[in-house]
This record gives sequence, structure tokens and C-alpha cells, in this order.
Amino acid sequence: MSRQLWLRAETRASERRAPITPGGVATLIADGHTVTVEDSPRRVFPTDAYAEAGATIADAGSWVGAPADAVIVGLKELPDEPAELRHRHVFFGHAFKHQPDAARLLGRFAAGGGTLLDLEYLTDEGGRRLAAFGYWAGYVGAAVTVLLHRGQLDVPLRPTTRPELDARLASTPDGTGALVLGALGRCGRGATDGFRAAGLTPTRWDLAETRDLDRAALLDHELLLNAVLATEPGTPFLTPADLDRPRRLAVVCDVTCDVGSPCNLLPIYDAVTSWEDPADRLRTDPPLDLIAVDNLPSLLPEESSVAFAEDLLPHLRDLDGGPWRRCARLFTAALDEESTHG
Ligand SMILES: NC(=O)c1ccc[n+]([C@@H]2O[C@H](COP(=O)([O-])OP(=O)(O)OC[C@H]3O[C@@H](n4cnc5c(N)ncnc54)[C@H](O)[C@@H]3O)[C@@H](O)[C@H]2O)c1
Repeated sequence: MSRQLWLRAETRASERRAPITPGGVATLIADGHTVTVEDSPRRVFPTDAYAEAGATIADAGSWVGAPADAVIVGLKELPDEPAELRHRHVFFGHAFKHQPDAARLLGRFAAGGGTLLDLEYLTDEGGRRLAAFGYWAGYVGAAVTVLLHRGQLDVPLRPTTRPELDARLASTPDGTGALVLGALGRCGRGATDGFRAAGLTPTRWDLAETRDLDRAALLDHELLLNAVLATEPGTPFLTPADLDRPRRLAVVCDVTCDVGSPCNLLPIYDAVTSWEDPADRLRTDPPLDLIAVDNLPSLLPEESSVAFAEDLLPHLRDLDGGPWRRCARLFTAALDEESTHG
């Protein structure tokens, strides 16, 4: 069935990523779909490239007036207006786990009769996510960790390209010990490759290696990157008291940014860090710095967009498929829960 897809401009000033590439637009149009792309000078792919691929170009924010059956596609938060959302929206809504703004967003959909098809919940039948930014989050996390440790991190962080980043990382092996927790996952694999790009050979731990956690061995690494997807509370990998034990550990990068969640396995800090201020000093003697930046893939907007869009495209080509029906059911359940317990 042919559809109208509408790629909206992102509102966040630092967001340059896109969930559809110009090549993806050409594929969708060849399928018989209609594609509108909002102009966005920040987006990593130029608006002209979308026009050349056959998209109709529209002003930023004009999705508000799109035909009722258009599917609006984006990545991050919607603007605060309109108060009532009447379309089907595909993006990361962060609204199904009682997040701080969840009730307000769900209320806007309820008021307008629209639907949130949340990309975080686009999964196969086994619950495996079909499109995610994890690999590049891990890669950038490892890169930032190494550069901070070498005293070469440029602050504020700014978007770059992989060749530029790899050129900055390249060095001869120097024996620095790096440990990746959750090494078999998407972020963990990206982190492994990021450390390797810097000439390091990281230790890789996943479920089997953390069951009887050897904290002394953990503290014997200079660099630690946590990429564990924790879905329930568990024994912390480190507590504040561990930071005062003998250690080589000098930089911790918590890619999960689970601070404040009951599932947090690294309760050694209080708040995420930012592009302006990426590292927080937790101990001074010897120094121990913490990085917890929650939008790492945005620092490699082109590579992360290309990879994500490639995974998403087959599902945009089939908007009636099972994964979207599962998303819609989760949305309905979240609305019901909100109206019952809200
Ligand atoms: N900071 C960012 O910008 C950013 C971007 C994307 C994802 N993330 C976060 O990164 C985390 C990982 O995401 P992912 O997509 O790589 O998940 P994933 O499911 O692909 O991988 C998670 C890995 O953790 C392992 N694991 C689970 N419990 C463990 C334990 N107790 N000990 C050791 N290993 C364990 C799993 O076996 C799996 O290999 C998530 O919290 C996600 O939200 C952060």
C-alpha cells in the first residue's frame, strides 16, 4: 500500500542525524510511496540531495499541516506545539517507562487521536531491536575515553567524521588497559572497535565474566566503558567505596547513562555530562574522570545515520508490517495505563 512519508526537521540544535537518507527516499519513491522532506540546514544530508532523489521539499515544522494520513518520521523530541497530535509519528518518544515528560506527550496524542510508533520498540518477534544507534555510541564513547585519558579531548565536543576521528585516535600501542562491559552487545562491539582504532586491545566482559565479578581486575584497567543493557536492578559493578581502593582506573565512560534508574549498575555519579562539559572528576588522587554523555552517536552524525537508516528502511517500505503493529499495541497499552494510573 502506498503511503505519504514526511521526514520532519529536528528541533534540537545539536541534532544533525536523520532516520532516512537521500538514497532511502529514492527507494521509497520507487516503491510507489510519496516522500516529503522538511528543509533543515543542520541535517547531515543536504536538502538538495533529498530533492534530487525525488522528495517534495517543505518548510521546517510544516508537518503540522500534513495530510491526516501522512506518517511523520523523525528521531528526537517534537516541538511543544501543537498541543494535540493527530498524525502517526515515528520517533524516539521516551514515553513508555514513566519518564518525566511521558504523561504530557501521551496526553497530546490522546487529545489529537494520533499514534506514537516508538523506534525504541521496533522489534522482531523475539524482542530484538531492528534499528538502533548503539554501535556508534560505543565507538564514540571509546574514542572520547581515550582522548580524555591522553589529555587530547577538545571541549566542547563537536560532530566529526570517522576518518577525522580515526586520524586523531591513531597511535602506537602503549599498554593502556581498557575494559568493555557488555562487550557482546551493539555498544560493546562499537566500543571494542573504537579502542582498537586507538591501538588498544580491550578486555571484553559480558554476562559470563561479570557473574562473579573480579573488582580488583576491573580496577586494574586504566579505562572502563560500561555498555551493559540492564533491565532489572543488580549488584553494582562499582560503588563509591571501590573508587578509594588501589586502582589504575582513571577514566570511566558510562554509555548506558542509567544514572537515577533503579537498574543503574554504576552508582558512582549523580548526573549525566554534556558536550560542553563531558568529563566530571570523581576523585583527585589519583585522578578519576567520568564521562556520561547521552547522545554520543550525534558526534558521528553521518556514519550513525547511514547505519540506522539502512536498518530502518525495510520497515518504512512496509508500514503495515508486524513490527509496527507491535509498536502500535505498545502505544495503546501505554495510553491505557496512563489513563488508569496517570
Ligand atoms: N549514551 C548514548 O548515546 C547511548 C546510545 C545508544 C545506546 N545507549 C545505551 O547503551 C546500552 C547498551 O545498548 P545496546 O544497544 O548495546 O544493548 P545490547 O542489548 O545490544 O547489548 C547489551 C549487552 O549487555 C550484556 N549484559 C547484560 N547484562 C549484563 C551484565 N550484568 N554483565 C555483563 N554484560 C551484561 C548483554 O549480554 C549484551 O551483550 C543501553 O543502556 C542503551 O540505552 C546509550
